[in-house]
Amino acid sequence: MDAYQAMYLRSLRDPEGFWGEAAEALHWERRWERVLDDSRAPFYRWFAGGLFNTCYNALDRHVENGRAEQPALIYDSPVTRTVRTYTYRELRDEVARFAGALRSQGVDRGDRVIIYMPMIPQAVIAMLACARIGAIHSVVFGGFAGQELAKRINDAEPKLIVSASCGIEPNRVVEYKPLLDGAIRIATSKPERCIVYQRPQHRAALVAGRDVDWEEVAGAQPVDCVPVASTDPLYILYTSGSTGIPKGVVRDHGGHAVALKWSMKYIYGVEPGEVYWAASDVGWVVGHSYIVYGPLLHGCTTILFEGKPVGTPDPGAFWRVVSEHKVSTLFTAPTAFRAIKREDPNGEHIRKYDRAGFRTLFLAGERCDPDTLLWAQKQLNVPVIDHWWQTETGWPIASNCIGIETFPVKPGSATKPVPGYDVQVLDANGKQVGDGTIGSIAIKLPLPPGSLPTMWKNDHGYRKYYLDPFPGYYLTGDAGYKDEDGYLWIMSRIDDIINVAGHRLSTGAMEEVLASHPDVAECAVIGAADEIKGELPVGMIVLKAGVNRPQEEIVKEVVQLVRDRIGPVAAFKQAIVVKRLPKTRSGKILRGTMRKIADGQQYQVPPTIDDPAILGEITQALHALGYPHAPASQAR
Ligand code: COA
Ligand code: AMP
Repeated sequence: MDAYQAMYLRSLRDPEGFWGEAAEALHWERRWERVLDDSRAPFYRWFAGGLFNTCYNALDRHVENGRAEQPALIYDSPVTRTVRTYTYRELRDEVARFAGALRSQGVDRGDRVIIYMPMIPQAVIAMLACARIGAIHSVVFGGFAGQELAKRINDAEPKLIVSASCGIEPNRVVEYKPLLDGAIRIATSKPERCIVYQRPQHRAALVAGRDVDWEEVAGAQPVDCVPVASTDPLYILYTSGSTGIPKGVVRDHGGHAVALKWSMKYIYGVEPGEVYWAASDVGWVVGHSYIVYGPLLHGCTTILFEGKPVGTPDPGAFWRVVSEHKVSTLFTAPTAFRAIKREDPNGEHIRKYDRAGFRTLFLAGERCDPDTLLWAQKQLNVPVIDHWWQTETGWPIASNCIGIETFPVKPGSATKPVPGYDVQVLDANGKQVGDGTIGSIAIKLPLPPGSLPTMWKNDHGYRKYYLDPFPGYYLTGDAGYKDEDGYLWIMSRIDDIINVAGHRLSTGAMEEVLASHPDVAECAVIGAADEIKGELPVGMIVLKAGVNRPQEEIVKEVVQLVRDRIGPVAAFKQAIVVKRLPKTRSGKILRGTMRKIADGQQYQVPPTIDDPAILGEITQALHALGYPHAPASQAR
């Protein structure tokens, strides 16, 4: 039997032996009583009875074991022309002091802290400081607007919020404080304190009695790591679901650390001491797992990049960083490569830099179209590995695990299930389908360590959304198939989630915003294939009877409304006014048919449609917007 097969089978047959061994690589304040506690199944718990601290394992352990002077984090910010390196000792000391600062502001074990920050070291320091004292962090991506932040404040009920005066986008300085103040104003739960990091590009006004300046408190007495239950929450990360209410994915301390440390070696093929770079944002799961926790738990040097793949200042930005900091492994989203490919089709910027030591490129976050993968492979001359996972699992479900055994790459496939994940493709009745047949992708319970144990304060939601659809399984929400070689092909979502530039967004949430416009009677939002961003949202709105204002004005207003309520990250810039929405006779909006029209794909007029003529009107309107955008090979 080959190495992958042997390891994969063992992980499913003997999960306790497999993960118990992996856990030995970390420091436990008290060993676990059971590796896998199934006494409350389907709510499984990993390493129950153990006492653990994630920050200790990510920082202090390395300082004490010979890595004190090794760079832990390199902050590379082309938008501010800054490069700053923190050794493991420096990062540990800053984190210990900020943990003291949090304490001095009343934060204790189990309290929630929201972190709404741009890609600056203080965001990482705040995350690790929470972990140090057993507080639960919830990072909110800076591209979300105040209302989205307010939803997360209401659910997490943070005692304190850590923020910064501004973020820096290539085209503008984004003031965070007005968004934060607005969010707190409308939130029903109010934080007692906010700590604000003032950046030199903009100073924010502080609210007396509530806000404190980062610099004022950051000199606090350092505090030690507090051992917490292995099963205690380390963080909550909100992600888009089908509705406007984000889902609070919970991550535990012990299982998460074991899975991430294991993944660094066996999936990414990286050794401690090497430089690993995930070009994402700490607001997303990729940032949590592979900018912060994974590389640090493994003793690697991680890169925190405040810039874009193109425009900061050119499409060579990634290769400048790879060369300057001797990156061995890069992880990013396919959309970044599509953007680079458009501006540097012949790879001239790539060839400007010495990439010696650069071994592997990993892509995830959205389906990777084969053209992009093949282009990257040709230009870089290293393996390009598409791997599949989601916020809920926290680490890859399917990958070419190059630290175990490298399989031939099949462009368009995420290769094989990762050890620990029993991935199956099911039909509507929950029966496994044969090779090559598309179905709903589900994971047989228990999920491996690191995956969500539940949703924040919402066991019921966890069951309803993920477990009830197929008893005994976790529903991923993705559809696809397994081929005759056991490779997984992830093709699309089965719900209303779309993926815009690698960012997961809910069309349901956008529809709620459109519907709140006083002139809108009905609406639908679809994700249309786009050459660069993978998908772009397009709104269809039906106006209330008697509204006779210019349509362009209303379109402008709804576009602004989505930007104000959800945020610029939604990239919602297009809407069309239609007389009616295509529906079945029972009233179901035919979003799938509209999406096919936008993508220029063949579609069948559903026999139950109430008024087929409307499809012609929609086709014309979408053509007027320039759809289809993407070549047929990229559209789903
Ligand atoms: N704070 C405030 N605004 C933000 C933001 C932040 N942290 N991040 C993005 N935005 C804004 C952008 O300025 C842009 O605003 P605009 O409409 O005024 O131009 C909008 O949100 C969309 O941003 P983005 O998705 O970054 O698109 P872009 O057109 O600026 O860049 C790419 C396109 C492909 C280069 C970029 O999306 C990218 O690098 N994607 C990689 C995605 C990724 O890392 N995903 C994580 C999973 S691995
Ligand atoms: P997120 O939770 O933001 O990480 O988004 C997860 C979703 O992105 C998955 O459920 C998939 O729909 C999609 N996704 C992520 N990686 C891949 C991939 N490699 N191939 C196809 N889809 C992917």
